[in-house]
Amino acid sequence: MTATNTPHIPATPTEDVHQDAPDTAQQPTPEPQTIDPAGQDIAPIITPDIQPIQTPIPDPPQIKQDGQPDDAPDDAPMRIIALMNQKGGVGKTTTCTNLGAALARMGKRVLMIDLDPQAHLTLSLGVDPDQLDKSMYELLTDAGTTADQVVKPVTEDGRLTILPAEVNLAGVEAELADKVVTGMAQTVLKQKVAPLLGNPDLPRDAKTNDRPDYVLIDCPPSLGLLTVNALTLAGEVIVPMQAHFLALQGLGKLFETIAMMKQGINPTLKVAGVVLCMHEGNTILANEVINDVNSFLTEARGTDAPWSNAVVYHPPIRRNIKLAESPSFGQSIFDYAPDCHGAKDYAKLAESVATQRVNAG
Ligand SMILES: Nc1ncnc2c1ncn2[C@@H]1O[C@H](COP(=O)(O)OP(=O)(O)O)[C@@H](O)[C@H]1O
Ligand SMILES: [Mg+2]
Repeated sequence: MTATNTPHIPATPTEDVHQDAPDTAQQPTPEPQTIDPAGQDIAPIITPDIQPIQTPIPDPPQIKQDGQPDDAPDDAPMRIIALMNQKGGVGKTTTCTNLGAALARMGKRVLMIDLDPQAHLTLSLGVDPDQLDKSMYELLTDAGTTADQVVKPVTEDGRLTILPAEVNLAGVEAELADKVVTGMAQTVLKQKVAPLLGNPDLPRDAKTNDRPDYVLIDCPPSLGLLTVNALTLAGEVIVPMQAHFLALQGLGKLFETIAMMKQGINPTLKVAGVVLCMHEGNTILANEVINDVNSFLTEARGTDAPWSNAVVYHPPIRRNIKLAESPSFGQSIFDYAPDCHGAKDYAKLAESVATQRVNAG
């Protein structure tokens, strides 16, 4: 990296990317096998030599400069956001579930993509992976499977939909390994999801150009091929994290990966922001970490770093037991405990995300 160095955040890969992953709400399933389980040296997957791919869908949607999504017109640009952190147990799936549910409650159409073989997003939204004919595994490995055959409604009004996963998604990285060298393995998600994204050049119309307002991708806890696929499709990244020292180290590696993606496969990729999850704001360490993240982001203003406009979202998501309970019931926090702190925090996060101008300045 050049202008995108990470002075305050050591870019050293951490040994512990899979440790400290408390997941009390559900039975843990084994960590997925990834080409790069430790999150190290993923350059061969990102393959900067590969040119930006040409697909029928125009490139990552641009964020509306003055977007106020609550009254945004039907032709407001679609936003594709990857929830990404190579560390497990930091709040990715909880944020994907409840940010998506909050946006749907604001009247938005939201497509969620479960890219984690643990299938926690799928379970959290009340979809039983064992009942699926086809899931992300078939979509990504079988040429004959289309996104239409895999997508499932989550809400009755159809505003919230999901491309669900099951445990077999862990096998995708091995299945696609021999296509890494041609770049096909990194772009298969983008190719396969394209038919669900309509044509952004046409006004949206329920009959002829049905498309989501938001696509939220729940990434696995690694920087392997599945995450690279998410970063190929996405226009933006939101990083859920917990404010402690090791999380900060991981952020350096994560941002380095995003910078490599920007230099290679996805030149318009941006970091929209950092969400502080399970936050305990009264600790000195948490406040120090937030200050460090803030000053790191501030230093990037005006540079071409993908995080040059990134924010630390306010308010943070407080630790709240209801958020840990709701996945077991297959419900978002708004259905499970609409009056709890967790619901309020995620509703505010959705407003912050929806009114954000990632491409401004
Ligand atoms: N704000 C919160 N308060 C309490 N528990 C939380 C909160 N956010 C997440 N959790 C719980 O912490 C665990 C890890 O969160 P999860 O979203 O699954 O992380 P990840 O997807 O990054 O692995 C889960 O059991 C989840 O229910
Ligand atoms: Mg998860």
